[in-house]
Amino acid sequence: PMKSIILAGGVGTRLWPLSREYYPKQFIQLGGPSLFQKTYERAVRLSGPENIWVVTNDIHQYLVRNQVEELGYTLNDSRLLVEPEGKNTLPAIGWALQRIREAYPHATAAVFPSDHILGEAALDQIRAADPVAKKYLVTFGVKPTSPHTGYGYIKQGKKLPLGNVVDQFKEKPDEKTAKEYVKRNYLWNSGIFLLSTDCFFAELKKYQPGLSGALGGGEDPDYGSLDAISIDYGLLEHSKKVAVVPLEAEWNDLGTFRALYETEQHGRDGNVGEAEYLAARNNYVHAPGKHVGLIGVSDLIVVDTTDALLVCHNRQAEQVKDLVTRLNQKN
Ligand code: GDD
Ligand code: MG
Repeated sequence: PMKSIILAGGVGTRLWPLSREYYPKQFIQLGGPSLFQKTYERAVRLSGPENIWVVTNDIHQYLVRNQVEELGYTLNDSRLLVEPEGKNTLPAIGWALQRIREAYPHATAAVFPSDHILGEAALDQIRAADPVAKKYLVTFGVKPTSPHTGYGYIKQGKKLPLGNVVDQFKEKPDEKTAKEYVKRNYLWNSGIFLLSTDCFFAELKKYQPGLSGALGGGEDPDYGSLDAISIDYGLLEHSKKVAVVPLEAEWNDLGTFRALYETEQHGRDGNVGEAEYLAARNNYVHAPGKHVGLIGVSDLIVVDTTDALLVCHNRQAEQVKDLVTRLNQKN
């Protein structure tokens, strides 16, 4: 069967202070399985438990192991790749594919982020894309609902038996460009990929010869010396062998509070979360155990935890990342 790679190394900074360095969003269990556990179960259905590789970092490896065990599976050491430090998604994916290639030379692997909501229907669509992955790096495209600046945008080109060749891939455009792309029917990159080892390493060699060299030998790469770069900037923006297959399933990157707000049930006046709202609209409040009141304000995000409080405009939810960078510089 097709292999699966789960990326579980992000710290979810844009969900600060809910998501913390030591307990990122994907591992949080609110009375049910975490997003990581749901991702793992999905991968089991696609690949079987013995064909799943999880890439995470040092501080989260025990969370990963425990949560997999809770599901009744064991994560064999050869299937858990622990990064000494995060180098973003391209080295993580490359390392997992290098391991896979050693054991299964011409394999194809589905790559899953671990912090997404994804409908079951996606699995059949991923399976169906297997022939496309022999020649192309396969992305899965989602119809945009807004000019979101945190996503990759895909321009569809020549039709394939399934999906299309990608004419242009642009990661995280500015708002003006994103608006233009939405108007021109570009698709969002869902962040799920289907990659054959053959196609991936051929393209990596062309566009990231350094990383390609580091992953070339039979041994694990010297991770600390690798450049941090995402697959989107490092490969998909450059390669001419990218295809896009439409993803027709429930999908949401719960990356920001704005995304969380959008997936929740909206009350009267568009507010989400328990609070007293007076002439207040479209706010998101998360402050368990506290009485909260909002008067005459709209589009705010208010997130309270024991040691941190965030108040942010919904439109600037992406910038929580910059805020955390600043806070880290002070500490
Ligand atoms: N192991 C590991 N190591 N995992 C990582 C690392 C790392 O250094 N960095 C990020 N990840 C994981 C995250 O936990 C997440 O599950 C996934 O890789 C994607 O990383 P994000 O940081 O969330 O990427 P993004 O949301 O900004 O952008 C990507 O996803 C969008 C859709 O959700 C891109 O592929 C965009 O083009 C895409 O639109
Ligand atoms: Mg994301």
